[in-house]
Amino acid sequence: MTEKRRIVLVTGASRGIGRGIALRLADGAAAVGVHGRGMSPAAEAVAAEIRKKGPDSRVFAGDLTDEKDAARVVGEAEAAFGRIDILVNTVGPMLVRRWEETDGADWQAQFEGNVITALNVMRAVLPDMRRRGWGRIINLGYSRVEQLQAYTSIAPYAAAKTALLILTRSAARSEAPHGITVNMVSPGLMEGGVLPADQNIPAGRLGTFADVAAAVAFLVSDEAAYITGTNLIVAGGWKI
Ligand SMILES: NC(=O)c1ccc[n+]([C@@H]2O[C@H](COP(=O)([O-])OP(=O)(O)OC[C@H]3O[C@@H](n4cnc5c(N)ncnc54)[C@H](OP(=O)(O)O)[C@@H]3O)[C@@H](O)[C@H]2O)c1
Repeated sequence: MTEKRRIVLVTGASRGIGRGIALRLADGAAAVGVHGRGMSPAAEAVAAEIRKKGPDSRVFAGDLTDEKDAARVVGEAEAAFGRIDILVNTVGPMLVRRWEETDGADWQAQFEGNVITALNVMRAVLPDMRRRGWGRIINLGYSRVEQLQAYTSIAPYAAAKTALLILTRSAARSEAPHGITVNMVSPGLMEGGVLPADQNIPAGRLGTFADVAAAVAFLVSDEAAYITGTNLIVAGGWKI
């Protein structure tokens, strides 16, 4: 069965995992919005690469910790492409610092960067998705997000990602009657990642952007219509 060509918005797509997801979802899409904090050459290059593949693509810039800015970014993408079918929230800074050395501002920044950014964009896209009775939302987590244990060097990050999972599942419950699924995809140790490579990855290698993008591509497909509120761990068996 041929799927309808979808309109996609990926936040934090100027580099890293977000870029990888935007390029992967471009296959078969009608248009892909590439979001970056600012109008950067890196974000423009991603949009140009997507246009080369066929779909329309444009950069939408804004600080998503700011509710108004997030609403503007979504409004601009909807105006440019007519709608947003698929939203992937990848903005999610990781602070690596022993918890005793973190202060309230660090915790606040991790919650703003990982939870409030996703909340702001989700709230902005949902009214139109609800009207049309179809939508897919993916939030990027962290593979150990469901393990409530000690995180000596990334405590605010782990706490924020756990909060994001609770937001994801809350939205999955509220949006299911509207034909909208909301899921989390959680990478483990990645190539080029911030954390030192752990030698005990059962799969014997670090994760790649393609590994993560494949999981996202499945969850946003028509076939995944009955899957909502899940947390899909993409970590090669690391620390499960
Ligand atoms: N990489 C890993 O090893 C790993 C492992 C597990 C989970 N994750 C999760 O996967 C996701 C992607 O990670 P990544 O390492 O690929 O990300 P990244 O390279 O740090 O990319 C971050 C992107 O988010 C944008 N951004 C950051 N703060 C923003 C803000 N306040 N408003 C708007 N845009 C903002 C950046 O824009 P600018 O370029 O303009 O700053 C950039 O496009 C994150 O949620 C991360 O927590 C990553």
